[in-house]
Amino acid sequence: MAVVGFDVGNLSSYIAVAKGGGIETIANEHSDRMTPSVVSFSGPQRSQGQEAKSQMVTNPKNTVSQFKRFIGRKYKDPAVQEELKRTPYNVVETENGGIGMQVQYQNEQEVFSPEQVTATFLTKLKTTTETALNTKVIDCVISVPQYFTDTERRAVCNSAYIAGLNCLRVMNDTTAVALAYGIYKQDLPTPEEKPRNVVFVDMGHSSLQVAICAFNKGKLKVLSTASDRSLGGRDFDRVIFEQLAKDFLDKYKIDVNSKLRARQRVLVEAEKLKKQMSANATRIPVNMESVMDDKDVRSGMQRSEFEALAADLLKRVEVPLKAALDQIKIKLEDIFSVEIIGGSTRIPAVKEIIKSVFKKELSTTLNQDEAVSRGCALQCAILSPTFRVREFTVTDLTPYPIKLKWTSAKGEPGEMVVFKKNDEVPFTRMLTFYRSEAFSLEAFYSDEVPVPYPDSFIGKFTVKNITPNEEGESPKIKVKVNINRHGIFSVSSAHVVVKLPPEPEPEEPKEEAGKEGKGVNGKEEVNKEGGGGEEGAKMETEPTTPNDTAGTEEQPKQGAAGQEGEEKMETSEEQQEKQDETDTSKTKDEEEGKKENGDKEDGKKGKAKVKYSNRDLPIESVVNELTLPQLQLLYEKEMHMVAQDKLERDRSHAKNNVEEYVYEMREKMYGSLEIYITEEDREKFSALLNETEDWLYGDGEDLQKNAYITKLEDLKKLGDPVVKREQEATERPRAFDELGQALILYRKFLTQYNDGDEKFSHIEKADIEKVERCLKEKEEWRDKKQNAQNQIPLTKDPVVLASQVRTELQNLISTCDPITKKPKPKPKEEPPKEEPPKDETPKPEGDNPTPTDEKMETESTEANKEETNPPPQADEMEVD
Ligand SMILES: Nc1ncnc2c1ncn2[C@@H]1O[C@H](COP(=O)(O)OP(=O)(O)OP(=O)(O)O)[C@@H](O)[C@H]1O
Ligand SMILES: [Mg+2]
Repeated sequence: MAVVGFDVGNLSSYIAVAKGGGIETIANEHSDRMTPSVVSFSGPQRSQGQEAKSQMVTNPKNTVSQFKRFIGRKYKDPAVQEELKRTPYNVVETENGGIGMQVQYQNEQEVFSPEQVTATFLTKLKTTTETALNTKVIDCVISVPQYFTDTERRAVCNSAYIAGLNCLRVMNDTTAVALAYGIYKQDLPTPEEKPRNVVFVDMGHSSLQVAICAFNKGKLKVLSTASDRSLGGRDFDRVIFEQLAKDFLDKYKIDVNSKLRARQRVLVEAEKLKKQMSANATRIPVNMESVMDDKDVRSGMQRSEFEALAADLLKRVEVPLKAALDQIKIKLEDIFSVEIIGGSTRIPAVKEIIKSVFKKELSTTLNQDEAVSRGCALQCAILSPTFRVREFTVTDLTPYPIKLKWTSAKGEPGEMVVFKKNDEVPFTRMLTFYRSEAFSLEAFYSDEVPVPYPDSFIGKFTVKNITPNEEGESPKIKVKVNINRHGIFSVSSAHVVVKLPPEPEPEEPKEEAGKEGKGVNGKEEVNKEGGGGEEGAKMETEPTTPNDTAGTEEQPKQGAAGQEGEEKMETSEEQQEKQDETDTSKTKDEEEGKKENGDKEDGKKGKAKVKYSNRDLPIESVVNELTLPQLQLLYEKEMHMVAQDKLERDRSHAKNNVEEYVYEMREKMYGSLEIYITEEDREKFSALLNETEDWLYGDGEDLQKNAYITKLEDLKKLGDPVVKREQEATERPRAFDELGQALILYRKFLTQYNDGDEKFSHIEKADIEKVERCLKEKEEWRDKKQNAQNQIPLTKDPVVLASQVRTELQNLISTCDPITKKPKPKPKEEPPKEEPPKDETPKPEGDNPTPTDEKMETESTEANKEETNPPPQADEMEVD
């Protein structure tokens, strides 16, 4: 199965696949390695990538771009409201406060969620990959910005689900880049040595991300990250656009902001200008025709002018760079290199700022555009069971602290930070509670660190089916909280510790580790789980409450894609063992754990036995994501639309074929085909072509595929014979030529034979007569057919076809060749004579060869050496 990485950028997306020979970037159907992140709806069809991008100016209302800014967000979110100021298509608030992208699709007004639009785009990346690899694509790794919060990450997982993909990891852009950087490096320090610290700066279309990573052989650890969610290439485009718009208003009195199409065109021009200014410091002219009100405009800009206009934006570049440094108090001399990626790091002023913050020359070791997708493909290879790849451990971090809130058994509020900023990811912690009834834990982003998301709520997790124990006390409830490899938080499992009756001795209790499904995660996670356990032990000193008893019940299957991921991660048996080991090693509860085990051992030593068993408890999760039934519905809808797209593509292909045929024939009827059709027929055919053209733009504009196929067949009934006559008129002389040459050669053979040529003396008379008969027959046939053909005009169907001539030629060859090429029998063995040198071999007497004969002669001599006769092959013989 294919091992794929998708970098879904705000502007441009890339696909990389892992293959035996390394990582390869996949080009789309336009042979372009970059696919624009755009989805367009035009009439009955959806299009994505390049085709959709070309509609940004012509069909802006139904062309959705920048959907990455909306995914996992609500309509009233201030960031969304800000975004809407620059969105050319309609966005509405859905019933549940979500975002709806309103477009015309299949002649209806339809509203799609950002998750659906993202899925539509992922479908495109998926099919592009499938076409290139000629295999199914299911498993993949998808990149997201490091600053994405829980809900945004869940939404990306949901989109993958809707597109029929299995996202093995939602991977931070900068972490993917770090993996692409590190995995092939042969000279990394050993695990015992000081790590190599590398800074990665990714400035793309919409945001700026920085990560400082530590590398040792076989592993990378993200030490710190920082970002500006709203600082990217498009912000630079905007300042250029504003300047051009102002200029056009002053000089030409046109307000391009008042007309969507004009605005889109000037925006495209602004981006082009920005890129040109990266390469040239001189003034770059801008000339646009008929921008608005039929006015042509002229303007221009110089790099220094742009830098002055963008000064406020440029000032913001250093903020995340410094923040990443400050978080870990790293010295600049401990930074090995600064790697830049993302299109906007090509801006000279941006480069200067990065250089001045890190006081280092910048490195471009990595492919600036493709590094993210390559890292994702590598991660997919690491996680995929079908692919073997060098071991490389990736430890990411959580950018935002997460706290849990609960109400104690006494009714008092409790809370604690369960994951601090920059804690390792993925990671699992174990918390212990004493409860006699169901209780809830609510997860929030802690407000110590600003989170670029208006709602700090992550989820509410209710641990259910708890009852007091036999003594009427609250049993011990162990709860696992986890940030999985997608960076998604959950309360992933809970169990109650139940005291078992002393006799009869039950079977050794086993934790139901596999209940949540077999894991697919890579080895690095196993290691981290080990680490997580130790930290988790501290967490086990959590608040306790009075006595009760515990119940047991199977944990329900949890929701959607994001949770599926965490389930998988949780359930590696290896991980579970590690976790449990660590859990039972420290602290008060750990001690109790020990006691549990100790008691078991004591039992073995014959003392009073107290045995415990763990029983899983169901958890009800309320999180910001679609439920499985909702997802299933959307998946089915997407698959239906994929089928519609195919139908529509086939339909429009069939229609195009008719259109193309009409134009081609009309041109040829008065051009290359003119001499092959009578005037009367030409007029008749032309009329039919005109009629068909009218039909295509009238009644036949919107019909099913078969209507076009039938129409084309009708046209071809008239057109094909003419085309065939032209083809025959070209082919036929060539075929007659070939036949003629063969006849000459065999005739020449007969002449040589009749002249008593020694080399044919072994051929029997009957065979010679056969050749003669065949030759005569074919010559007559040729003469008859050629004469007949010459009698009829070109406008009539030919009396003989080139294919028939070639059949006659084949008959001739198969009759004559076995005779003319019959090998001469070996001469009787004679006592060895001294042979004259080769070039002095005497030629047969009376031979006065023509150039043709000479060739035959030479071949004959060579052939005699090999004791075979000359093969008079038509294509090897020269003819006078
Ligand atoms: N030579 C250049 N000079 C200036 N800007 C450039 C140049 N080449 C590309 N860009 C800009 O880089 C941006 C695209 O970069 P990139 O492809 O890394 O973004 P993305 O991955 O789609 O977005 P994001 O990472 O924000 O999701 C665009 O704004 C583009 O105009
Ligand atoms: Mg990017």
